[in-house]
Amino acid sequence: MTIHHSPRRVVITAGPTHEPIDAVRYLANRSSGRLGRALAEEAAHRGWDVTLLLGPVERSGHYTQVRTERFTTTADLQNLLRIHIPDCDVLIMAAAVADFRPKRATANGKLSRSNGPYALELEPTPDLLAEVAMSKRPDQLFVGFALEPRDSMRASALRKLERKHVDAIIANPLETMGSDTIEAEIHWRDGQCVQTPGVLSKSTFASWLFDQCAGAPAMRDESTQNE
Ligand code: CTP
Repeated sequence: MTIHHSPRRVVITAGPTHEPIDAVRYLANRSSGRLGRALAEEAAHRGWDVTLLLGPVERSGHYTQVRTERFTTTADLQNLLRIHIPDCDVLIMAAAVADFRPKRATANGKLSRSNGPYALELEPTPDLLAEVAMSKRPDQLFVGFALEPRDSMRASALRKLERKHVDAIIANPLETMGSDTIEAEIHWRDGQCVQTPGVLSKSTFASWLFDQCAGAPAMRDESTQNE
């Protein structure tokens, strides 16, 4: 029996997107990228090969074991995913990707107050997770998030699981965004739902999540797969 100990190749997305309105203004959200960064650190700690696709947030901490690539817009992230996804075993889509973006950004220059008022026309962004999931292989594990009001997050997570064709969706309440802690539940394709043991720090959550994923083929050590 050949024993391979190749590290799992994990892609994690984190942070908000900025969608330009003009040369100096953008639409964004409150995501801090902290959850995705905690996931990247935990994955590196487990000896995996980690690529962190990080949005426009201040870079902090020490990520010597993590390959980090930066994005600003949804379109940038779309390009990075197209490059990195074919070779990965696991995708954790923690980025708070914009759902809408200005249809026409004023590329050169700044909208002036004296010419206003203005109306912003918004168009939906492409669903990046659904797009990459269309070519997902059975040996890949894709996990998305559903950030929703607490009372509707379960139903919404189940809808996203169906619509995006991913392996699991993690439902978490709106308060998670920008917070140091998270209380969540993971919904698997086979109908299983597992809740975090109460409110966790984002680094404890990262460890909990990877333990939850341990049974998936993409996370198993190849030496045990060959047995
Ligand atoms: N997501 C994505 N591309 C988008 C928007 C979201 O890949 N344009 C990903 C997020 O990273 C997250 C998951 O999809 O993992 C759910 O994000 P959410 O914004 O809650 O989902 P939407 O598909 O935008 O659903 P809704 O109809 O509720 O806005």
